[in-house]
Order: sequence, then structure tokens, then C-alpha cells
Amino acid sequence: MSGIEIRKITANIGAQVFGVDLTEPLDEKTATALRDALNAHKALVFSDVNLDDEGQQAFARHFGELTTAHPTVPAVDGAPNVLPVDSEGGRAANHWHTDVTFVLNPPQASTLRSLTIPPYGGETLIADSAAAYRDLPEPLRRLADDLWAEHTNDYDYAVPEETLDEEQAARRAQFTSITYRTAHPVVRVHPLTGERGLFVGGFAQRIVGLSTGESRKLLDLFQSYVTRPENVLRHRWSENQLVLFDNRITQHYAVDNYDGLPRRLHRVTVAGDVPVGVEGKESWSVEGDASHYTAVAA
Ligand SMILES: [Fe+2]
Repeated sequence: MSGIEIRKITANIGAQVFGVDLTEPLDEKTATALRDALNAHKALVFSDVNLDDEGQQAFARHFGELTTAHPTVPAVDGAPNVLPVDSEGGRAANHWHTDVTFVLNPPQASTLRSLTIPPYGGETLIADSAAAYRDLPEPLRRLADDLWAEHTNDYDYAVPEETLDEEQAARRAQFTSITYRTAHPVVRVHPLTGERGLFVGGFAQRIVGLSTGESRKLLDLFQSYVTRPENVLRHRWSENQLVLFDNRITQHYAVDNYDGLPRRLHRVTVAGDVPVGVEGKESWSVEGDASHYTAVAA
């Protein structure tokens, strides 16, 4: 297929893709063009995709083997690779994060497909963590290059335990039914492009070798570069869209600005490789086995 057209949305991140029928298997040339576009733009937006769960999974498979839905959260009924992202399920994602970084090899790419979109709000923000790294002043870049951070799913993000209602408490118990802790490089080298990106985000809770208080200050400092408006794509959803983003070099945030109206996306993720820092050292697992969730990509 040669009718593919890629239109940038912002200077740093995001492109719209036209001229590809995602309901058909992609030929090798198109698949390569999309992989190149993903490397270049980090987030790709497809409209009028007309996919069901099967089709979304088939599309995601062009980028590698799929993970199951989540290490601890149940899949969509009958679709073990599909995670429901549902306002009614209360899975608040209104914090900056990279998907599932608490495991040793987080998914390399995520796809989100819009089923129900509120009449206003409900955008997804996607940030370019490589632009964030480039924005750091040289002394901070050198500091970041040497640091490792421990990522975990078991921490009190967003809501203090005592303010949770019964349903929220049950969801939290499920989310943390297996505790994961993994040390990742603060600066991850992208295996395909060689780009360096700040690999932090919500699950990064502690810098290896530093106290909690010191860690928080440094993580907040690095994070402030990731969330600069220039580094962020603000995607306003329509129904029947698919957004594909590179989970190795982005963070994202689901904006909670739609008054609790129905909003439903389906997520399918592609198994990832073990992250590598600037010195070539790989991440290591501190706690929790994720082999039921994901294979390790080469
Ligand atoms: Fe997410």
C-alpha cells in the first residue's frame, strides 16, 4: 500500500496517519512505514479505524508479541489481551505514568482504542521523554545518566488509603495483589533509535541509594521537564480512533475533566524488552514475577 500519509501534530510528538486500512492485515511495506513513523513521532493517531477487539489485537501484533491485559487487573471478558479502561471502573489514570513500568520488561508499545467518549474532556496527554532529556541542562543530564529508580505498583498514589470507599479499596487491593518492584535506569536508551529518554513517571518512587525525601525532589525535578507543554501532545478523542504510542520513550496522563460521564477505551499492549541505561546496564527485578503477564522481547 502506498497511500500512507503522516501528518505531524506537534514539533516534538504526535502524528496523524491517513491512508491505511487497519481492518486489513498490513503488508510489510506499510508495517515498516508505521514502525518508522512510531520511532520518529512516538505517538500515532488513526481515525475511523472500525476495529473490534480482534482487529485491535491483530494490529498491535504487527509491532510484536502481545502481553496479557495486565499483571493483576482482569481482562475484557473473552479477550485476555485486552484491558478495559473505563471511567465506571474507576481506574483513575489521571497521573503521569508509563504503562506497567513496575515490571522488569514493561510493554514497548500501547494501543488505545476509543469506544465511548464523553461530549467534553477526557483527553489523553502523551509526553515525549526524549525531548525532556534534551531540555535538561548539561549538569542535570549527567546526573540523570548515572541514576536508577525503583518502580513499584504498591504505593499510595493519588488517594490516601483512609479516604477510599469499599469499591476503591477492593480495586486497589486487586491492583497490588502481587507487589512488584523493579530498578530501571532514569535515562533509558531506546533500543531502535538510540535516543535517550527520562524513564521515570508515576511508578518511580525512589532513586536507588537516596532517601525517600531526596528521591522525591529529584524525581519531581526531572518530571517537570517531561510535562513541559512543548513536550506534550494533548489528544482530544473521537470515537472509533486508535492511538499507538511508544511506551519506551513517552509518559501519558488521562485528564479527569469530564464530570464522570461514560468514557471507555480498550488497551492492548506489545511485550517489551528489558530497559538499558546509558552504560549498557540492564534493569533488574527486586520483587515480583511477571512471567504470566509478558514474554521478554528480544
Ligand atoms: Fe496508562
